[in-house]
Amino acid sequence: MANRILVLSLVAFSCALATAFEPSPLQDFCVADPTSSARVNGLACMDSKLVKADHFSFSGLHMPGNTSNPLGSKVTPVTVAQVPGLNTLGISMVRIDYAPWGVIPPHIHPRATEILTVLEGSLNVGFVTSNPDNRLISKVLQKGDTFVFPVGLVHFQSNVGYGAAVSVSALSSQNPGVITVANAVFGSNPPIASDVLSKAFQIDKNVVDYLQVTF
Ligand SMILES: *[C@@H]1O[C@H](CO)[C@@H](O)[C@H](O)[C@H]1NC(C)=O
Repeated sequence: MANRILVLSLVAFSCALATAFEPSPLQDFCVADPTSSARVNGLACMDSKLVKADHFSFSGLHMPGNTSNPLGSKVTPVTVAQVPGLNTLGISMVRIDYAPWGVIPPHIHPRATEILTVLEGSLNVGFVTSNPDNRLISKVLQKGDTFVFPVGLVHFQSNVGYGAAVSVSALSSQNPGVITVANAVFGSNPPIASDVLSKAFQIDKNVVDYLQVTF
């Protein structure tokens, strides 16, 4: 009986694994075909005879991103949008540049766990667990340190040094998606009704109006 329960739990566990990540490829590769109008989960494959090395390649990650913006940070993505060969492979990466005191604001990747490595500088990074605990798990990272942001959790990075910082992350999706909390809540189009936000954040409607104009 105990054995049977063990086997059943293992089966349930492996089914959960199979559905919790991107589907496994059914061929060597499926380079995204930009001309196809087929509606599939991901992107349609181009004829494999037309596939070239450039479909699996991206150049320029050695170049610093321009951080002259209000957040003082710049993301250079290498997802399926830049590298069509990533289609169906469940992986992507980003380079992030941070000006002194620059910030990547609280955001969510709905489809990916992220593992980040600091190449230059010091970053304060963290994520918040789901309700009801909302526990902040954070750490200051130095060059060479790595940190994991579990899929779907709100997380952030901030440059806590006086110099520029650089990080590189790998993400477990060809198309991780980004939901920046402030922009999604206060910058939606059309806007969320201000009485909803006023009650949700327990703030005056004037403050909601101000934040909606900002985002
Ligand atoms: C960086 O971005 C700022 C603001 O958009 C722009 O004024 C500046 O020319 C850019 N710098 C470079 C080197 O592209």
